[in-house]
Amino acid sequence: MKIKLTFLFVLLFLSSLVGYSQKAEGLAQTPPMGWNSWNTFSVDISEDVVTGVVDKMIELGLKDAGYTYIVIDDGWMLRERDANGNLVPDPEKFPNGMKHLADYIHAKGFKFGIYNCAGSYTCGGYPGGRGHEYQDARLYASWGVDFLKYDWCSHGNLTSDAAYTTMRDALAATGRPILFSICEWGDTDPWNWAEEIGHMWRISGDIYPCFDCEDRHDDGLPTQWSAWGVTKILDMRDNELLRQHAKRGAWNDYDMLEVGNGMTQGEDRAHFVMWSMLSSPLMLGNDVRKVKKETLELLKNKEIIAVNQDTLGLQAFQLQTKIDLKKVIQPANDSLDVWVKQLAGGKCAVAFLNRSKTVINASVQMPTVKDNSAIVFDASNVYNVRNAIDHKDLGKAKKGKISISVPGHDILLYVFEPNQKKKK
Ligand code: GLA
Repeated sequence: MKIKLTFLFVLLFLSSLVGYSQKAEGLAQTPPMGWNSWNTFSVDISEDVVTGVVDKMIELGLKDAGYTYIVIDDGWMLRERDANGNLVPDPEKFPNGMKHLADYIHAKGFKFGIYNCAGSYTCGGYPGGRGHEYQDARLYASWGVDFLKYDWCSHGNLTSDAAYTTMRDALAATGRPILFSICEWGDTDPWNWAEEIGHMWRISGDIYPCFDCEDRHDDGLPTQWSAWGVTKILDMRDNELLRQHAKRGAWNDYDMLEVGNGMTQGEDRAHFVMWSMLSSPLMLGNDVRKVKKETLELLKNKEIIAVNQDTLGLQAFQLQTKIDLKKVIQPANDSLDVWVKQLAGGKCAVAFLNRSKTVINASVQMPTVKDNSAIVFDASNVYNVRNAIDHKDLGKAKKGKISISVPGHDILLYVFEPNQKKKK
């Protein structure tokens, strides 16, 4: 016993000497919103593109809608570090360097994000962070970086939680609050370990702008990989497990948005609403300099964004996992998903996702729905129902009864607000 106690004291003493690092506090209290270069520009990025996007986001009202982080993804640096081991921004793409660009972004009221990788090389083959974590973190901080996306290519024998912890500690040592975005694709179940390390963690491989396809990359490579359509990402993991780990400051990241990148308006809507229901970060992935009117309207939709940014920070669940959907939807239809998200103030968002290509008309009998012990929807309450996509009040729902009509590959988003207190 005495030996054990002495051992414990020695351990406590040693850990106090080593110091304790943690991720930056107070960031990402709601899912981060912003723009990322990758989905449209791949490695073909430049200062001109980024400043053009920044200016356009202000002009179009996207900044006012809440999109704050401007993130430069892979391809910003030279293929080699300099003689001192520092990363070097590509002078052809960024002729004035990163500090200059960061100053521009900050002066316009945005925050500045950058990309690298925990392995030896980024996925685009540029120098990765492995073995240079503290040096790189100091460089990023000196530029004024506010957000670091950290990828997982060429990780070799690294262990994911240890590798990301090293970078978290390196960021903490700079003293600058930097949002840490873990991009490990869900390979080693980051929802189980990432919440103390980063503010968001990818749960899937790369997104692809289609509703339900898989974009295979065989390329004769030994390791085949795929990019994934919207519903493929939705179905990739056990949502019940993932949602237990989502909270203020720590989010499941379903990948950057493909809204405006080639899907139909209904598919874009389904994608945007589902990412909002899942409390995923909302990072625009389109070329906002050429955005279509209806795409812009969707991306600026205040009521959908409010569902994403709700202060309770609870991720939606699928109704099937709580109750038998056949009792809810008449006529029963396997192509219809019902997702429920508890909101602050006793409100509740319900999304009806039609996975089929044909319209679904149904009557819905919402039962009382609980999440653990909390009542999320009380069927004995009268609710005011609002169509959050079209900004229309639909009247009262009594005993949970409503009727719906959902076009193919599209979604409805209703917000239920208690009309009166339950009678005793
Ligand atoms: C990986 C990531 C993408 C993007 C690219 C850059 O594939 O998952 O989001 O950052 O690398 O090379």
